[in-house]
Amino acid sequence: MTSAVKPEKPVRVLFVCLGNICRSPTAEAVFRQQVQQAGWQAMIQADSAGTAAWHVGKAPDARSQQHARIRGYDLSSLRARQVKVEDFAEFDHVIAMDAANYAELQRLRADAGEAATASLSLLLDHHPELRGGDVPDPYYGGDDGFEKVLDQVEVACTQLLRSLLKTQGVFGCGC
Ligand code: 4NP
Repeated sequence: MTSAVKPEKPVRVLFVCLGNICRSPTAEAVFRQQVQQAGWQAMIQADSAGTAAWHVGKAPDARSQQHARIRGYDLSSLRARQVKVEDFAEFDHVIAMDAANYAELQRLRADAGEAATASLSLLLDHHPELRGGDVPDPYYGGDDGFEKVLDQVEVACTQLLRSLLKTQGVFGCGC
């Protein structure tokens, strides 16, 4: 008789911006790809959401998709949703793209009461040189804004993955 090995509960990460069509879906796709390349997709899962409901059900902004595609990230299957109180119980880490969304998430987390177990941080808290900063909203700007989002997200997500793996006892992950 063999005994089944109980799988570890996956670590769940939720990236949150305002509209869930530019910054947070970019972070979701970049982080997912990094996780997959490191081989930890069974243990680390990612999703994204917006604090606003304006774009619910829509695919990511065409500019975000285009700039991400050039770097090898496919955002096309993602659809926007609004963050909800329950997310603070369902995810382990809720990660805001800027201070305004962080403040909105703090209010929502308070509504969740004791059920809220997720940690809350800024994405750039995980960036070695931009701690405490905002990922600038590219929606009303030009191409350089979308490139900047990708630059910041790639570095911060790599660091986030390393620190999540470290807390799981994994060192030298190759990521
Ligand atoms: P995101 O960007 O928060 O990175 O998805 C925005 C998307 C849409 C709007 C603002 C920011 N908007 O005003 O519709």
